Amino acid sequence: MKSFKIGDLTVKLPIIQGGMGVGVSLSGLASAVANEGGVGVISCAGIGLLYPRFSKDYLTNSMMGLREELRKARAKTRGIVGVNVMVALSNFSDMVRTAISEKADIIFSGAGLPLDLPSYLREDSTTKLVPIVSSARAARVICEKWKANYDYLPDALVVEGPKAGGHLGYKREQIDNADYSLERIVPEVVSEVGRYEELYGRRIPVIAAGGLYTGEDIYRIMRLGATGVQLGSKFVTTEECDASPTFKQTYIDSSKDDIEIIASPVGMPGRAIGGEFIRRVKEGLMRPKKCPFHCIKTCDYTKSPYCIIMALYNAAKGNLSRGYAFCGANAYMSKKITSVRETIESLKSEFAAACRRNGQTAVL
Ligand SMILES: Cc1cc2nc3c(=O)[nH]c(=O)nc-3n(C[C@H](O)[C@H](O)[C@H](O)COP(=O)(O)O)c2cc1C
Repeated sequence: MKSFKIGDLTVKLPIIQGGMGVGVSLSGLASAVANEGGVGVISCAGIGLLYPRFSKDYLTNSMMGLREELRKARAKTRGIVGVNVMVALSNFSDMVRTAISEKADIIFSGAGLPLDLPSYLREDSTTKLVPIVSSARAARVICEKWKANYDYLPDALVVEGPKAGGHLGYKREQIDNADYSLERIVPEVVSEVGRYEELYGRRIPVIAAGGLYTGEDIYRIMRLGATGVQLGSKFVTTEECDASPTFKQTYIDSSKDDIEIIASPVGMPGRAIGGEFIRRVKEGLMRPKKCPFHCIKTCDYTKSPYCIIMALYNAAKGNLSRGYAFCGANAYMSKKITSVRETIESLKSEFAAACRRNGQTAVL
């Protein structure tokens, strides 16, 4: 596990904590990971719901909330703190502008192609831009458009495979198809961005995400060309994770069979721990009657099977009868709550063991 660079930032530990929406990764988790040398990420999805005190308007509260979380994180760490902004959010522009003006170190952006992301940078901006993609084709489209329209290339790329938690950039039938596995797409993306690296004399590190849970997993995916990894579920069961203890316990109590693919109002499949709420959604019992948030660009609440922002908010607050927990395919492997430091130490020692088994000396 070697340090690497995202633009001029040196990431000491090549572990990025994936942004986890509606209150799961805020300043608490992000600063803890940053303090260990990794990259901590605040998700701005639904953040306005967590800051109702600023105004009656969800969109204003979202901007104020993100500003406050970034400032709280800064007070707790001098490490690298990023913001995750999904393209699908209706307040994508406001969130990106806020992150840049607050000097977030990095913006991670997926759930759609962030084709105009560089347009938000100003002369004095320091924020690095890292798109999240699910294929080599998407990586190519972004590199081409960014270079042609903004003379900019991604500072790194996250490749999220079909075993990830949250929304998945795949069709349902692709999720279990080996042609779309992370192991298959990482080398494809590495080779695709390699062309741009060569052409423009720049490094574009590829960060792998989705279903990575152990140090051995990290070792294997790095052997396939990934420079770093992004982990989501692994950090949910930490003391510092910002979700409620009940949300974390759902992970610990889950078994493989509890984890299912659901249809999300965002228009993408998602992976989550099933339960009462999801059963009621399938029976058509959770249809929203109104929508004060307009949080997702494509969501029409009159047609939506449920209100996603309320479902995720309720779950993160521990009210799992009124929501559900997004999770990666290996979330059921969580056995207990540990600190971020312990979690990272165990990843490092598993990684070192994998190196030894393969006759290599671990660089940690
Ligand atoms: C509870 C939860 C919430 C998530 N929310 C977001 C989000 O707001 N934006 C996003 O781009 N990805 C989101 N993700 C995906 C993670 O950032 C990460 O890429 C993914 O979980 C990696 O897979 P893993 O959980 O198997 O490690 C979420 C994942 C989980 C588990």
